[in-house]
Order: sequence, then C-alpha cells, then structure tokens
Amino acid sequence: MCGIIGFTGAKPVKNILINGLEQLEYRGYDSAGIAVLTDTGINIRKRTGKVAQLREAAMDLTEEAFCGIGHTRWATHGGVTDTNAHPHKCGKVVLIHNGIIENYRELISDYGLKNKLVSETDTEVVAALLDTLYTGDPIKAIRKAVDRMIGSFALCIMFEDHPGEIYAVRNVSPMVAATFDDNSIIASDITAIIPYTKDYFVVPEYHILTIGKGSIKVEDMNGNEVKPEILTVNWDISSAQKGGYPYFMLKEIYEQPDALDRTIRPRVKDGLPFLLEDGISDSLFDKIKRINVIACGTAMHAGMVGKYVFETKLRIPVNVEIASEFRYKDPIVDSETLTIVLSQSGETIDTLEALRLAKRKGSPVLSIVNVKGSTIARESDYVLYTHAGPEIAVASTKAYTVQIAAMYLLACRYGLVKGIMSEDDAKEFITKLENVRGLIEETLKNANRIKMVANRIMIAPDVFYIGRGIDYTLSLEASLKLKEISYIHSEAYAAGELKHGTIALISENVPVIAIATEENVHAKLISNVKEVKSRGAYVVLVSHDEPLNDSSICDMQIRLPEADSTFSVFATAVVLQLIAYYTSDAKGLDVDKPRNLAKSVTVE
Ligand code: M6R
Repeated sequence: MCGIIGFTGAKPVKNILINGLEQLEYRGYDSAGIAVLTDTGINIRKRTGKVAQLREAAMDLTEEAFCGIGHTRWATHGGVTDTNAHPHKCGKVVLIHNGIIENYRELISDYGLKNKLVSETDTEVVAALLDTLYTGDPIKAIRKAVDRMIGSFALCIMFEDHPGEIYAVRNVSPMVAATFDDNSIIASDITAIIPYTKDYFVVPEYHILTIGKGSIKVEDMNGNEVKPEILTVNWDISSAQKGGYPYFMLKEIYEQPDALDRTIRPRVKDGLPFLLEDGISDSLFDKIKRINVIACGTAMHAGMVGKYVFETKLRIPVNVEIASEFRYKDPIVDSETLTIVLSQSGETIDTLEALRLAKRKGSPVLSIVNVKGSTIARESDYVLYTHAGPEIAVASTKAYTVQIAAMYLLACRYGLVKGIMSEDDAKEFITKLENVRGLIEETLKNANRIKMVANRIMIAPDVFYIGRGIDYTLSLEASLKLKEISYIHSEAYAAGELKHGTIALISENVPVIAIATEENVHAKLISNVKEVKSRGAYVVLVSHDEPLNDSSICDMQIRLPEADSTFSVFATAVVLQLIAYYTSDAKGLDVDKPRNLAKSVTVE
C-alpha cells in the first residue's frame, strides 16, 4: 500500500525522494508527492497518476534542498485527487502518512480543526492536529498527538522552523531507517533504502525518531533514548531490479529454483530436516494436537497445500483460516494448537491481528515470513524465514513456492519427531523436496507452449480451473493469479463439485484448465474433464499423462515432469503462474502493478 521515504543529509534530496518513490511503486498507489524543506520554507509537489508524472511536476523544484519527504498514496479516505495526495501541510507542519486514523472525526470536533482542512483525508487531520498542538517543540507536539490518535500510522513529519530534521513515529504500519555517511534515510520498506546501505533498523512502535543529517535519535514516549537493533539485508540492489526481464513477475517466476534452494538447503542436515538453527526445537511439537494456519491470499493457498501434507501424511488435523475471518470470530485455539502464520511481507494487517489473537488464546505461534524483521516475524514465538529475496511484483510467485517448501520442512520434522515418519521416509521426503528445483527447471523449458494457452484464453470472459485434492488447492491459487493480473473473471472448482451447479456455466469454448496430478483420483478427474468437454469447453490438461492426442479429453496438454503429486505442486505452480503472466502480458496490461492492488495490505 502507500509508500514512504524521507531523507536528510549532504545530498540534494529531490531526486533521492523521487527515485525512492519509484523503488516503492510496486507497493501499489494512485498518487504521489514530495515536500522539500529549505531555509526559506516548505515546497510541495503532488500529483495523481504515476511517479513519472510527479517527476515532471517537480521539474521546477529547487535542487538546493537537502531534507525532504515523499509518498505514494493508495486511496482509503477520500478519492484519488491531487488535493488528497500526500504530503499534507498545515501551518508549519508538513507530513506523510501510511495507515488509517480511525478517530479522525472526534479529533476534528475535539480540536475544532474543520476550518484547517482542505482535503478529504484522515491524514490532513493529523497535520492540523499537530499544527494546533505545536508550540516550537516537535517532540512535545508529536507526543500529545499520538496520545490522542487511534488507528494505524507511520508518520514522517517536518516542521518549517526545524530545517534539516524529519520526525517519525509509528503504530502497526511499518517503517525502517538507516544512516550512512552524513545522511539519514527512512522508508516504508527496505527496497528504498538498499541503494544506499544494507544496514538498517526497524522503527519501533510508539517511539519518536529525530532524524538529522547522519544521525537518528530514537526515544520512547517518556523521552528515554533507545538503541535499536541493527539488521543487515542479505540481498543487494540487483535483486530488486528487473535484470533484463520485461517484468518483475517473470523474473521472480524464474528465480524459484534458487529461492527454493536457499530456503531448503540450510535446513537439511545428514539428509534430514533440521530447524534448530531457526530456534525451532523439537519440544515445540510435544503438546501439539492440531494446527491452525492463518494467512491471506496466496499465502493462505500455500497454507492449504501444507494442510494437505500434514493431514494426509501425518494425520494431524489442520484448519486453514482466512486471517480476516479468524480475527473476528471466537476461534477454537488453545495451547495445544500450533498456529502457523504465513506472510511474504510480514506486515499484512489482518494476518498480524489474527496472530495476536491466537497468542492471546495461548497458542504457540510459528510464522513463515519472507521479510526479515517484519512485524509478524517479531511478534511470533518462532520464525522460519523463507529466503525468496525481495518479491516486487504484486502477484506473488516465488514467495508462494518457498512458503510451501517451508511447510514441507516443518511437516517432515514433525513427522520424524513424532515417529510417524521413519528416518528413511524422512530422508526420501527431503531428497524429493531438494529435487523440485529440477522439476521447475524442466517446466520452465515449456514456457513457449504455456504461452499458447495464454494466447487462447486472453479473449475469454471467464476461465475455470478444476482439480481434486492437492490440485484443487493449486486451482484456487491459479484462479487468483489470473484474476489479479489479467482482469479475467475466473473460478476454481473442486472438479467433483461442478455438477452441483457450476457446470451450468460451461458452454461452447469456455476455457477449463484441469489439473490432474493426483494418482488416486486421476480417473475421476478425467471423467470430470470429459463432462465439461462434451459441453463444448476448451480444455487445457495439466498432468503427467503421456501425450493423449484425444480431442474428447482435451484441446491442449501441458505435460509435467514425472513426480509424486506432493512434489509436483512446485512445477504445476510454475505452469499456472506462467499462464497468468502471459495472459496479462498478451493483453498489454501492467503485469507487475495490477489495478486497485497493493503488494502489502496494511489496512483492513
Ligand atoms: O504479504 P502477505 O504474504 O501476507 O500477503 C498476503 C496477500 O495479500 C498476498 O499473498 C496476495 O494475495 C498476493 N499478492 C496475490 O498474488
């Protein structure tokens, strides 16, 4: 969602801010703006549309400014207009904000702010509030404002009479900060910082930062100074660039073999899963009678694949819950329930709140997270980091397959510890997991054939994905992927369920993508395929089958490399990701930045 950057130092700030906003574009936004602070005052430029439009609008802005803040806005309160774009200025105060101020109406009436407001945003209310409370001491004003604000916020604030300084404070919405040479930088995520330094810290919640040139003071709300823990990113700027690919999504699809290696190999010792170095000791499993998986979107679909393995191979009940549903019911979770939280960003607000609820109910929480130091990682009892590297495209690909791999490692360790899997079984499982790299590489060689599917479905108004068992969970993910980047309506159906209603929608030439890797239900799935085929569907079969050359079954076949369905998921996922990618590309859409979507969903 919204992106934040702030910089103060020895370098002219304008282009640093605009370049930083470009780095943050992937988060999703609909307007952008910057404010620079000079000895003579504050200058603001803001525009709806892309950062490129802001760059043009800022052409006339002075290069002689060394302190400033920039923002990409994903509209929540108030429409997409120049006025609603950030930064917002009121009196001597100018600020940018990520999050939602829930009690903005009370603040307006309690402090009589109405006449100070020109936009429809909750953010401007904070600027007006700070202006009202400000008597020359920024920290005092921020403390008082924070005391009254309810909601999530990451705020970067400048005061006209404090040149060279940026103040920051946050609750829930993430920010990271760093110093290098005589410069300081703050941002909503590490991608805007990485061009300058690999060492950074996560801004602690409810602490106020005074950011000067090359120095950052962090103090709690009582004024006690705090030394934040410095973290180091383990990837470099080239990982956050396209590296010759037309889109990040395609690059990230191709990065999967390496991402999987990085996630799996350090956790294998003598051929067996080994999680002790991640702080996960076997005693965690002692009391566990059931598992709860909480996540959103693609991460939740990865959890469904994990459920399948835990249940079929280990016979432990697993409940997969959409985080936004889980958090508003009274879930059945206790100290005998292991809660596994899946999140690429580690910042998804519903997932975070669901995690907190599970903890309050006494459940041990283990998170599988990609972003180091993210809020979900920090609040979990145990963390299994995936090592996918930065995922920039909004559509999640490599984060999904590494999440599945992490679930598999965990399942295998659990099976071993509980004596459900013998050492030999576990070794065989791990060898197969290590070999998925090869399956993916083999599948990627088929990209041109997969592109032909995309050329066929790009004109379709609706596409159906069907599968059974583990293939059904993949259908759900495939359908989400296609919808989000190609804007084609799509549904995923458990193949056996079609006859109970949805088959009414199957008519001449409706594309049906059938996934059939599950041996025990293969014949059943083929019967379902024939049912849709005989109603005129255009069927694409994704399976291990030898070439069928049978038009009564399918119009096109994508053959997967031979493997058990448990491990075929990785290759199947790649096929389905490529179908979505090529469809979006063929339609001429912006694959990496689909409309209305944000990479990390930090508001409810
Ligand atoms: O960062 P998270 O993994 O918590 O994000 C969860 C979902 O928002 C995310 O997986 C989303 O569904 C994907 N971007 C879709 O491709």
